Amino acid sequence: MEKSVKIRVPATSANCGPGFDCLGVACTMYNELSLTLKKEPGVEIQVEGEGAENIPTDERNLAWRSIQMLLRRVKADDTFRGAFIRMKNGVPLSRGLGSSAAAIVGALKAANVALGNPYDRRGLLQIATDLEGHPDNVAPAIYGGFTVSLVQDGVPESFSFLPRISLKMIVAIPDFPLSTKAARDALPANVPMKDAVFNVGRAAMLVGALAKGNEMFLRHAFEDALHQPYRAKLIPGMYEVFDAAREAGALGAAMSGAGPCIIAYATEHAEAIGDAMVETFRRHEVEARAVVLGVEERGAYIVKE
Ligand code: HSE
Repeated sequence: MEKSVKIRVPATSANCGPGFDCLGVACTMYNELSLTLKKEPGVEIQVEGEGAENIPTDERNLAWRSIQMLLRRVKADDTFRGAFIRMKNGVPLSRGLGSSAAAIVGALKAANVALGNPYDRRGLLQIATDLEGHPDNVAPAIYGGFTVSLVQDGVPESFSFLPRISLKMIVAIPDFPLSTKAARDALPANVPMKDAVFNVGRAAMLVGALAKGNEMFLRHAFEDALHQPYRAKLIPGMYEVFDAAREAGALGAAMSGAGPCIIAYATEHAEAIGDAMVETFRRHEVEARAVVLGVEERGAYIVKE
């Protein structure tokens, strides 16, 4: 009988303000992916939930391309030439919540389990980073928690920890998508030294304060000067939404990944913060909804084997 594997994988938010391309956090919002590898060529893909109308169900499908890469790396692509994939998506597409990382990691984890786990999580991180281009979303999707990542000579290194603060993440999800490419194209090739210094201090402070559970030092720790100022023009009212979140009681707010979602970090007042963010977006003629998420402790995991 052909073996079927079902994986649950969390949404992720990258950057967390100052940690451009290196910080990320797993969130309590999920995609599920079921995979049956087949010896016969051909892929059948069913998608329900977020993005069901837009996700290709043929050879272009990102989950299938990820599975094929893993099969090639373990030289099993001659044995398994086809697959049946079912995706149940809770993570909205092109909003800055790691939908592509979730597709990649869910697919890699499923294929890895189906093949008897030839890779450990570090091995999966390498393949996922090769596919995604940077590790900041795929790392928390694999490890869970809050992750710090770097890439040395093409090899990613990530570690994960759980914040010692009961952190809520209030995400305002606008009704328009923003491609990561467009958001990356908005960035300059070089940044002033003072902006680099601004971010180094805040990124270090953010990791230290979360790891130690020192809420007081988070007041400026979600600020950024490296990418958000250049991307603000892509998200109407962005800085006003940050201000509204803080005024309603958030510790800080930032773009989630490359946007357009805005994420506020708080320990209390989550509902009021969400309302304030949505209302401020509305004043800038952006329809948005707010969801309150927690930090997901687990990375991609098996639901059924
Ligand atoms: N670090 C990435 C960016 C996240 O901000 O462009 C999006 O994939």
